[in-house]
Amino acid sequence: MCGIIGCFSEKDCYGRLLRALKKLEYRGYDSAGIALVHKNRRLHENYRLIVRKKKGYVSALEGAVISGDTGIGHTRWATHGVPCDRNAHPHVSGKFALVHNGIIENHAALRQELCEHGETFLSETDSEVIVKLIDRNYAGDFFAAVRAACARLEGSYAIAVISADHPGEIICARCKSPLIAAAGKGALYVCSDAPALAGEAEFFCPANDGEYIRIAEGKILFYDSAGNEIKKSFLRLPAQIAALEKGDKSFMEKEIAETPQALSDTLKSLHRTDFAPCARQLRGAKRFFAVACGTAYHAALAFRDRAEECLHIPVLCQTSSEFRYRSPLIGEGDVLVAISQSGETADTLEASRLAKERGAYLIAVTNVAHSSLAALADFPLLLRAGPEIAVAATKSYVCQLLAVFYLTAQAHFFKHTRMPVWFFELEKLSETVRAAEECFLQTSHLAKQLSQTFGMYYLGRGQDVVTAMEGALKVKEIACVYAEGYAAGELKHGTLALIEKGFPVIAIATDKKLAKKCENALAEVKARGGFCALFSQYEDVLSESCADFCCRLPSISEPLMPVVSVIPLQKFACEMCLLRGFDPDKPRNLAKSVTVE
Ligand code: G6P
Repeated sequence: MCGIIGCFSEKDCYGRLLRALKKLEYRGYDSAGIALVHKNRRLHENYRLIVRKKKGYVSALEGAVISGDTGIGHTRWATHGVPCDRNAHPHVSGKFALVHNGIIENHAALRQELCEHGETFLSETDSEVIVKLIDRNYAGDFFAAVRAACARLEGSYAIAVISADHPGEIICARCKSPLIAAAGKGALYVCSDAPALAGEAEFFCPANDGEYIRIAEGKILFYDSAGNEIKKSFLRLPAQIAALEKGDKSFMEKEIAETPQALSDTLKSLHRTDFAPCARQLRGAKRFFAVACGTAYHAALAFRDRAEECLHIPVLCQTSSEFRYRSPLIGEGDVLVAISQSGETADTLEASRLAKERGAYLIAVTNVAHSSLAALADFPLLLRAGPEIAVAATKSYVCQLLAVFYLTAQAHFFKHTRMPVWFFELEKLSETVRAAEECFLQTSHLAKQLSQTFGMYYLGRGQDVVTAMEGALKVKEIACVYAEGYAAGELKHGTLALIEKGFPVIAIATDKKLAKKCENALAEVKARGGFCALFSQYEDVLSESCADFCCRLPSISEPLMPVVSVIPLQKFACEMCLLRGFDPDKPRNLAKSVTVE
């Protein structure tokens, strides 16, 4: 989604905004813009706004520096109105400029009302109504005008506003979209999330829903929804965020390489986590619900597979967006496991709120300790994957699998006073995942062979169905190859119709008892001229198969294999992406953190 930044700094304000926007590009990159309060040399008007905004990447804003010490910036992920210069933020009305992340649901009604009052709009965005409202409500008190405008808004927003009448001042409001304030050497910031300030800020403090942040007179001030000043504590920016650098490779490649470390950090943290506060819920639950979006949804499915097998209770798993609108049968005594790397995905947050309203107990699996989801949870279960910048989730997925398996083992312990046998192999997970990197040479050859394909299937049985789905999602997201992940048993019920000479099918077989069934599906593909690739930890499964390409995975206890088998598939997708000339960190039309519905 869109990224927003605000900066007050007497030195290099434009450069600071630009650097932050470059780091925010993972949130949205169809257009970008900056506005500064610029000191005018002409005598009759002291300050004016200068806006530079362009369709495309942030690099389009490089060039002549705009002087000024107070500015805002934006990377856009279009919701209302096509990506173009006109729809790019900041939006201006009179002496105000605004950047916005979120969706204003009543924008059409507000726009009509404003038009009836003679306002004209320059963009098709929902955001422009906010700056018009601020302008109309202004009678000398900048903060009051912003509050009056926010009172009219329905939907989600994090906004940052500057005014030519108020140099040195930035006013921000938050409602269901992430917003933090931060301080660094010689600069004060507001921002949609901390990674944008890597190397710039030292301390940060998130705003809660309904709160306002005001940068004025060289200070950061927080206010509650009624406009009363409140005191908040600042935290040191975590070292991993402060040191965030991509290097010469993409973030995605870097993050895949960081997976073994992320796993061992997450495991250490899970060992230290006190599960006693949720013991009663884990022991007593008659069923679980699990919700998530995108890749995290696949972690939810993996949780379902492991928990149903281990705990013998049903796990009802749904994408967060569907959960909300299906009158879910959730209530008191139920446990909802919500999984979200960012902890800011709008649908997952709303699904969690709904479940809590109905009396369910909320366990949140997230990588961001200060996220909205973690704050909402009865029991936050934190990953230590480190910051993940690439839009497509990789190391966070693997750590999500570890966390939900760990949670399953804890529930098993609370029910049966012993851990499942595979629990004791978790210590080996990190090194096994590192050993999976030996598959990369082969996956790179496979990518070369398949880089021009127009589509492909991923097949699996049992626990490998989820891995097939995640493998397909990755290649779809970043390499723009049409792909579907399927249960191999379903092949004959439709998918087979599309198999023709050379059509690639990738199968994963990590469950010995189902491997023969998977092999049968491959034989059916082969018989129709398809190209078959097979990943398994079992030498005999590979050697007895008809596959054109075989890759031996390193081995660990079978129930933990989903953590290992996905690694070469992530790398394969990344290779396909590079060979097809795309940027793995900026997949077409996608954003890292989907903070709007
Ligand atoms: C977006 C990202 C995915 C991610 C999903 C859920 O679609 O592109 O990589 O899996 O959001 O994000 P979350 O932060 O909730 O895990």
